[in-house]
Amino acid sequence: MKILTIDIHTHILPETWPDLRERYGYGGWVRLEHHAPCRARMMVDNRFFREIEDNCWDPRTRLRECTHAGVDVQVLSTVPVMFSYWAQPQHALDLACLLNDHLAGVVARYPDRFVGLGTLPLQAPDLAIKELERCVKRLGLAGVQIGSHVNDWNLDAPELFPVFQAAAELGAAVFVHPWDMLGQNRMPRYWLPWLVGMPAETCLAICSLIFGGVLERLPNLRVAFAHGGGSFPATIGRIEHGFLVRPDLCAVDNPVNPREYLGRFYVDSLVHSPEMLDYVVKLLGEDRVTLGSDYPFPLGEDRPGNLIRSMPYPPALQEKLLSGNALTWLGLTKERFAFQQGWDALS
Ligand code: CO
Repeated sequence: MKILTIDIHTHILPETWPDLRERYGYGGWVRLEHHAPCRARMMVDNRFFREIEDNCWDPRTRLRECTHAGVDVQVLSTVPVMFSYWAQPQHALDLACLLNDHLAGVVARYPDRFVGLGTLPLQAPDLAIKELERCVKRLGLAGVQIGSHVNDWNLDAPELFPVFQAAAELGAAVFVHPWDMLGQNRMPRYWLPWLVGMPAETCLAICSLIFGGVLERLPNLRVAFAHGGGSFPATIGRIEHGFLVRPDLCAVDNPVNPREYLGRFYVDSLVHSPEMLDYVVKLLGEDRVTLGSDYPFPLGEDRPGNLIRSMPYPPALQEKLLSGNALTWLGLTKERFAFQQGWDALS
């Protein structure tokens, strides 16, 4: 039986965009060098950042690869290096609009294959809220992808609370992706910002939303974290123990035990290990883990969905992990996608 399969963690870029250094008058921006057919280098000014292929920008290539992997729907978000929280607010807003308009255009061309998450100039919360409203109300995006922190603000910063409040009121899904990893000056080698920094960033983001009382104050906020919640699931025992023995340090803004929030947020399935996936499903609940692959990047799951499909889970749980939980998080129903493709309903 065919199970609808939705990948909530995939990144996309436009094929080209204007020269941002020229447009805004200073450097630090990403540009693409299309140096060979179907290939480009992402450059930050003149520094090489990453080699990408046309599956990063061409929806038709993406759909071919999706069909090959058995993925029916991709949730699209920008590549985190495009967040540009460091930039002047008006310029970050301008770039966010450009990226969000592109993303909405791709979704509009293939509405039964793609869902969109916008990006926001979070360094200016007022501008971010306006763009969030435009994303949801005008562009029809399902929500936004945000970084794990915004310069010096962790996600519990009072400045950011109105953005989360607006997302909850709009019913927008929020995807938290680690970026601008902590401790990078100590991680010049071995790709450690990605291997060590990213899981720690994600744990820091979850702890900030819990200890800062954001999840407590916004019970309707639908938030998902990348990479299986990073190091949070593995360290919840330590985090709870710390809360219990030193409430003077941990319970200053929220008196609720952090363990109470297990089941309150979503994570993707990108953990690269059946033991870890099973643990995360048990820890957070069968309704809170959902396929995410980090397509099209090499640290992602090579064949999106294969780890979930390899688990000895009954079909009903497979369906939750492959799409049911994604639909709940996104605030969508299967009918949006069932229209052309005729999935068998399990129920
Ligand atoms: Co990613």
